[in-house]
Amino acid sequence: MATDIRGIGHSVKRKEDDRFIRGKGTYVDDVVLPNMLHMAILRSPMAHAKITSIDTSRAGALPGVVAVVTGDLMAQHNLAWMPTMSGDTQAVLATDKVRFQGQEVAAVVAESPYIAKDALELIDVEYEPLPPVVNPEQAAAPDAPVIRTDKEGVDSNHIYHWESGSKDDTDRAFAGADVVVQLDTFYPRSHPAPLETCGCLADVNPATGQTTIWMTSQAPHAIRTVFALVAGLPEENIRIISPDIGGGFGNKVPVYPGYVVATAASLLLGRPVKWIEDRSENLISTGFARDFYMHGEMALASDGTMKGLRVSLKADEGAFHADAQPSKFKVGLFHIVTGSYDLPAAHVSADGYYTNKAPGGVAFRCSFRVTEASYLIERLVQNAAYELGMDPADLRKKNFIPKDAFPYKSATGFEYDSGDYHAAMDLALEKVSYAELRTEQAKAREEGRLLGIGLASFTEIVGAGPHKDYDILGLKMNDGAELRIHPTGKAILKLSVQTQGQGHETTFAQIVAEELGIQPEDVKVMHGDTDNTPYGLGTYASRSTPVSGAATAMVARKVREKARKIAAHLLEVNEEDIEYEKGTFSVRGAPDKARTIQDVAFAAYTNFPDGTEAGLEGVHYYDPPNLTFPFGTYAVVVEVDPDTGEWKVDRMVAVDDCGVRINPMIVEGQIHGGLTEGYGIAAMEQITFDEDGNCIGSNFMEYLLPTAWETPRFELGETVTPSPHHPFGAKGVGESATVGSPAAYVNAVIDALWHLGVRNIDMPVTSAKVWEAIQAAKASAPSGGSGG
Ligand code: CDP
Repeated sequence: MATDIRGIGHSVKRKEDDRFIRGKGTYVDDVVLPNMLHMAILRSPMAHAKITSIDTSRAGALPGVVAVVTGDLMAQHNLAWMPTMSGDTQAVLATDKVRFQGQEVAAVVAESPYIAKDALELIDVEYEPLPPVVNPEQAAAPDAPVIRTDKEGVDSNHIYHWESGSKDDTDRAFAGADVVVQLDTFYPRSHPAPLETCGCLADVNPATGQTTIWMTSQAPHAIRTVFALVAGLPEENIRIISPDIGGGFGNKVPVYPGYVVATAASLLLGRPVKWIEDRSENLISTGFARDFYMHGEMALASDGTMKGLRVSLKADEGAFHADAQPSKFKVGLFHIVTGSYDLPAAHVSADGYYTNKAPGGVAFRCSFRVTEASYLIERLVQNAAYELGMDPADLRKKNFIPKDAFPYKSATGFEYDSGDYHAAMDLALEKVSYAELRTEQAKAREEGRLLGIGLASFTEIVGAGPHKDYDILGLKMNDGAELRIHPTGKAILKLSVQTQGQGHETTFAQIVAEELGIQPEDVKVMHGDTDNTPYGLGTYASRSTPVSGAATAMVARKVREKARKIAAHLLEVNEEDIEYEKGTFSVRGAPDKARTIQDVAFAAYTNFPDGTEAGLEGVHYYDPPNLTFPFGTYAVVVEVDPDTGEWKVDRMVAVDDCGVRINPMIVEGQIHGGLTEGYGIAAMEQITFDEDGNCIGSNFMEYLLPTAWETPRFELGETVTPSPHHPFGAKGVGESATVGSPAAYVNAVIDALWHLGVRNIDMPVTSAKVWEAIQAAKASAPSGGSGG
């Protein structure tokens, strides 16, 4: 009986899929309210321009248009600007000038979405073009036009300077090094591109002031607090409901102007207002990711021992600094850039710049900028191996933090809780048959074929975070879980985090099953409704399992302690004499005298001991003692066509360690998704801008996402190193594969081409770039280059 409980470690089928595959999910656009109006947003066609006039009279006269909203109208209500998640300000509707193409300029509220869209074309805006700034280098130029003229005392485009690690120690390490390897690389701007775009339905009741907003948000509680602060509304009167979400990937964390305008319109008009973005709006104006220009230097001894790491980077933050990084860390957790290596000294410096692009930097399937960090160190290590004439696997193994060195304090201040990097790499090498592949590669080269083997050993850092270091706008990054067991032994679990496809309704029910012995199908998981779930900062950066998953285990344990008291009462013994195993409380030494959790639940409402409160429920807010550190090694085998530059993935082996796996099937799905996204970024995804700041890639014809057709087949492996401080030894996994894999793909292409003299190709590694790199290498080293 006890062994049948499908708790942690079972590949329980996803409970939520039943409604999704039957088309019975409820997304924001499915919510329809009586008397509802529709809103559409007019966006700037220019990247940088002064607004000289806005004439809304023609739009306002179109039958069916109820209101045209401009920045001036918003300003009358003190809502022309709003705070961002990183403490900057952002224009809700532009008043003075536009600062990126796609910026919100005006909004039309109408009886139908089609009328609203048609009316946008009748708004006459006159712009006076200003010179655009489209990258950090231009932004930093002494004569660069200042983008944020709205900010008093600001006379440049520089937003922040941030450092981590010891500069002196690092300088000393470099002074004593035998070899210094350098890499300049660009991690391009990409977009999370969830299939469901952003949107909301705002309903302000003019009589009561009750404000209900259905919103595709990954962080409904934080958004409610921001709304209360922006609009000066009483927080208890604001209810944010995030219904089913069609993918978030970081895109649905920020507060977007559309939410504020729709809510203000509903307040002013006394009717519900719905705003749903179209695909191009989503791609050009909402939460981008990456856009880092990175310089890395590694100091090594001639035997390959790593001595120091020096990194500097420039971040393109767009026109408003809006990303949600923990307040203390301006470039997120990028300083995990020392990766899996025992680096005695490291120094990281970062500068953020305003540019005439949409605000970005979201945690796109990434824990706060760790993707960029992981990419840089893994590319650098691979190049260092070639420079030293060492095998890239050997160089990594020589420098991995050894298993017995944990907890390990990194040179940039993190305490890695656990790891066994050698085990993950050994398994990956074995699965991919590394030694045989190197022999095959040498043979292939003799035949003029370009076979490449790329490795990446990543260390992620997830589960933000302990309250002493982690907050967003002052809000501590702790999350809650509330558990209520009903008399019939069925349960409701309410979470502060929100599923967007990760399967929380299943995995979190499994945690309760593990702790209390109630089957997952008897545990209903609720989330995404600020009135009905405990407070927390939401789902992104793989924080759900490390933080809210831990809260769930802790609340279930609290409930179990009360259940033990009731069981003792039912069995007429002292509490100390009760033993518990998977849903059954029995008398020590007399296992036949037992009560199930269901018996106890019934008794909690019908037959509880005197002096005990009725009911069986609890709430827990979890403050993690540390972050968790998932890791893994990925190995990619590619073949490059020397004539066309086309590269094809022959093998992709991914070994992940996320500690104890709650649901192995869901974990594999997460890894498949992440590997696909990593491949997309390595091979094809980039949001480009021309020199005027026009966004090229405003649709899926130009912004390419990998489909099942081109996505490689993945071969997965796992090691299990439980996180020592997590209640059941789990670490997050949702983002790892996107963080770890791009470097493996690119390293594989470089591995195929290094002997020709190719040293770097920036992502996306298109066939055209590969072909050009081959031609350039041939031109500069006609004898064929060296190394590799
Ligand atoms: O925050 P997010 O849900 O995106 O990431 P996560 O905490 O890494 O979890 C992603 C999914 O994988 C969730 O459904 C988790 O419950 C599941 N998971 C698991 O089954 N075992 C782990 N050790 C980690 C995550």
